[in-house]
Amino acid sequence: MSCPFPTTEVKAYNKDECKALQFPVGKIEGPMQLRSKRPKMELTLTQPDDWHLHLRDGDLLDAVVSHSASHFRRAIVMPNLKPPIITTTAAAVAYRESILKALPANSNFTPLMTLYLTDMTSPIEIKLARRSGAVFAVKLYPAGATTNSQDGVTDIFGKCLPVLEEMAEENMPLLVHGEVTNPDVDVFDREKVFIETVLQPLVQRLPQLKVVMEHITTIDAVRFVESCKEGFVAATVTPQHLLLNRNALFQGGLQPHSYCLPVLKREIHRQAIVSAVTSGSKRFFLGTDSAPHERRKKECPCGCAGIYNALVALSLYAKVFEEVDALNKLEAFTSFNGSDFYGLPRNTSKIKLIRTPWTVPESFSFSFGDIIPMFAGETLEWQPSFI
Ligand code: DOR
Ligand code: ZN
Repeated sequence: MSCPFPTTEVKAYNKDECKALQFPVGKIEGPMQLRSKRPKMELTLTQPDDWHLHLRDGDLLDAVVSHSASHFRRAIVMPNLKPPIITTTAAAVAYRESILKALPANSNFTPLMTLYLTDMTSPIEIKLARRSGAVFAVKLYPAGATTNSQDGVTDIFGKCLPVLEEMAEENMPLLVHGEVTNPDVDVFDREKVFIETVLQPLVQRLPQLKVVMEHITTIDAVRFVESCKEGFVAATVTPQHLLLNRNALFQGGLQPHSYCLPVLKREIHRQAIVSAVTSGSKRFFLGTDSAPHERRKKECPCGCAGIYNALVALSLYAKVFEEVDALNKLEAFTSFNGSDFYGLPRNTSKIKLIRTPWTVPESFSFSFGDIIPMFAGETLEWQPSFI
């Protein structure tokens, strides 16, 4: 088969090759049988990075880190531990050490650390962070916006301008959880209102500050990012916001494992995000927002926000791009745009995505309990594997 994709190698397998690669074709049931008649294909991609990841600490870190490390070369690690202690460079460096210790022996996964911005963060801390070589960004959680954000920023213009000016000076990106916390604002409008009342004024005031709007969920965010100067404002996009709309939260009953923040939105928003990421724009890149919580913390009267997608994310991104015939744009989204924005070298290692059905485990069990992955028990089509 000739290769229709300029940046991506594509391979079709014959029957013997399929056998040799042990594709689990015997396990296919129902509608998957029809799809399995399509030619086997594989994509070879520059190894992706995850530009937005929650790794937690302690037992949870030990449980999940290998899932991210098995697919991604680097990840921007969110600082919202409980309690949120990653407010200094020293704490970020110590957290980095514990992540490295938790990695499988042969892993070359590199955690890129972030600082948790508070009303008290000083400009000196930004200088220290830059000099450490371990900290690559600072995370803005509006106080109370999401999991472990209670010590976040209460008034960005009143309390944080000197720090933000220093960040612009030091070329240190600000990563934004873009939602207002005012309980009077409808939960589905919080991103839009944040853009109007915080982000737009911030970008006008500090045009040299690099900003990543994390996990965008609306057409308003797409338009905002596209309206800004390229190279200064960008956005990460999760698999869930590309594949699901808010109906998923209520499909056949309340679905806690589809609950994340910012919450899933209407279908028109999902479609706008799919168009943006598959357009080839450099402003959008992969950030899974994989956010593990032990099952009982999701399936309870006041369940935590967060979707655990580390192991399925690459399959899901490939699905999204394939569905709109844009597989030729996948590699830039997964592997180039993020490192280019951060000014970091692109990876040289490669990963394969093989189009072959595989079943997502129902759960991952550990001594402390279970973690339920996104699309638990479902069959996905693209299977990542190392070369
Ligand atoms: O759904 C989410 N979960 N959104 C966030 O912003 C935080 C994350 C978490 O830490 O669990
Ligand atoms: Zn997050």
